[in-house]
Amino acid sequence: MARPIRIAPSVLPVDFANLGEGCQALEKAGVDLIHWDVMDGVFVPNLTFGPDIIGSVRSLVNLEFEAHLMVVEPDNLIERYIDAGCSTVLVHAEACDHLHRTLGHIAELGATPGVALNPHTPVDVIRHVRDLLGVVLVMTVNPGFGGQAYIPLEEKILEVAGLLKGYDCIVEVDGGIGPETVAGVVTAGASQLVSGSALFRDPEGLQHAVSDLRTRAAAAQP
Ligand code: DX5
Ligand code: ZN
Repeated sequence: MARPIRIAPSVLPVDFANLGEGCQALEKAGVDLIHWDVMDGVFVPNLTFGPDIIGSVRSLVNLEFEAHLMVVEPDNLIERYIDAGCSTVLVHAEACDHLHRTLGHIAELGATPGVALNPHTPVDVIRHVRDLLGVVLVMTVNPGFGGQAYIPLEEKILEVAGLLKGYDCIVEVDGGIGPETVAGVVTAGASQLVSGSALFRDPEGLQHAVSDLRTRAAAAQP
């Protein structure tokens, strides 16, 4: 039975001067959760949202928040983002010396643990932590910026989905996901879709972009 398609918009393209309104517009457009791309300027060459910024938006929308921590030493920040209202926390395998311990820490704090894999990172890094995972995020761009070209990693997504057979874990993709790329990633096994620039560049508006992406994804589900 295929998992329901969930659209997780990246907040990166939203007008940072009006984050609350931007997230309310996403909620109105029918997205399923909000994907916060957290960047520390070290793990990736960009800086974005601290926990207080996310906390300031928390009460304005009635949607799950997931924090994509593109940071070094995520252990120092996890609790802050959960306290800010993120119910899922995704750490990068490449930033964790003790991934098993970090994922257990997220779960102990009552949030869903997730791991993000950069394009070059072999899938096998999740083999021994599958029982701790609620989400595996396959990066289909090199993290740090929105609006980049999709890296065709359908084979890797297929590998992740195969490794997660029998585990209660979502396969999520992030980077360059839009009308042209969604079918390939969903056919390969992704059900949760992070999309940023593609949603905001639809000439027919956000609502159309979200429903079009969902329709295309549903049509491609195995
Ligand atoms: C990269 C970010 C982006 C963002 C999606 O670090 O994680 O992938 O979420 O941006 P688009 O959809 O514009 O590639
Ligand atoms: Zn992201």
